[in-house]
Amino acid sequence: MEDIELPTGAGARLAPQGREARAILHDLESRQSREPDVHGARLFGLVYPTGREDLETLLEEVNRRYLFGNALNPFKFKELAALQDDVVSITSGLLHLGEGGGDGGGGSMTSGGTESILMSMLVNRERAKLRSIGRPQIVMPASAHPAYAKAAHYFGMDVVRIPLDADHRADVHAAESLIGPNTAVVVASAFSYPYGVMDPVEDLAALAASHDVGCHVDACIGGFVLPFLERLGRDVPPWDFRVPGVTEISADVHKYGYCPKGASVILHRDADWFAHQVFLYDNWGSGLYGSPGIAGARPAGPIATAWAALTYLGEQGYVDIMRDLMATTAEVRAGIEGIDGVSVVGDPIGPVLAFESDTIDLYAVGDVMDDKGWNINRNTDPRGLHLMLSPAHGQVAGQLVADFQDAVAHHGESRGVEARYS
Ligand SMILES: Cc1ncc(COP(=O)(O)O)c(C=O)c1O
Repeated sequence: MEDIELPTGAGARLAPQGREARAILHDLESRQSREPDVHGARLFGLVYPTGREDLETLLEEVNRRYLFGNALNPFKFKELAALQDDVVSITSGLLHLGEGGGDGGGGSMTSGGTESILMSMLVNRERAKLRSIGRPQIVMPASAHPAYAKAAHYFGMDVVRIPLDADHRADVHAAESLIGPNTAVVVASAFSYPYGVMDPVEDLAALAASHDVGCHVDACIGGFVLPFLERLGRDVPPWDFRVPGVTEISADVHKYGYCPKGASVILHRDADWFAHQVFLYDNWGSGLYGSPGIAGARPAGPIATAWAALTYLGEQGYVDIMRDLMATTAEVRAGIEGIDGVSVVGDPIGPVLAFESDTIDLYAVGDVMDDKGWNINRNTDPRGLHLMLSPAHGQVAGQLVADFQDAVAHHGESRGVEARYS
């Protein structure tokens, strides 16, 4: 792996005297002006702007009210705990927890997709340990999110990568030969970040079940996309708890659920597996300490804003947003696919599109797009560009396509901007 220069801090020290509030706000304003505008619809994937002022105003107000809460202790912040239960329960309903087997299951909110995946991998490790597996393996598609490798690194597990088929989905036949006595869990993405395609969840879950191991479906992106695509009558292959063999699903409210960062849900098909997620400690001077995630003290804002977004939009709100978002996706896809030499990678199901080309240096196209003010992400395999569309991109879809066409027509040499996700 290349050497990466890590930030060491800018040498700031606590000033002897504080500054005026106005100066601080002015300073932050000027710092933010040098970063991509989170409302500007020229950024992809890191934020999910809706362009809905009504929703944003509500979320700002809710966040302000919950700025100082702490979700660590549900006995003190009972109402906050109830909001959290609602978010978990609403997500459970969307993902059909309780169907396809199991005892009704359980789950919790976490800080994001990564923490949801970490907690699931921890539970799968514990399950594997009960079967006396010393170094459990995570068998995951090569396209799975790096959070699984992070979990393996943190929890003493190994990653076994399933190669992808020609459509950039996990190759089930290859997976069959990769599962062995040390397998703890098989992963499927619904859908993947790099290509926006669905892995064959049913086949991978059946394979996992036949070996009596877990199957985690990563619906961090798809969790709040696929249920609404289904309601729009689109063809959505089975992927949720209705599929026997699926044991855990992660779904991020802070992506296509449209609340600010810090809100994801991890669900387990069986309640006792959720119990493995909960850490309890009763051996210090201040009583029982219990926590279902990595963090101790936890911010209240993400819980309250997740609850507010879900309850404000309701099913109809999400369906309406999804209808428009898919229309935007179709417009962008058709416009870019229409360019000679550029094609879409695989068969993306939702608003995540990857583009490749045998004849055009798409990194050079990305440079021109960046110069035009778009923050275009690069893919390495296949080498190309990546778009994760949000509802707010509906207002700029025509411009995006026109700029892309122009960039293809007028690009120079690639500046060598690397694909960097974080
Ligand atoms: C498919 C998938 N899984 C997991 C994650 C991790 O989510 P987070 O960045 O919220 O930790 C992401 C993030 O983009 C993702 O795309």
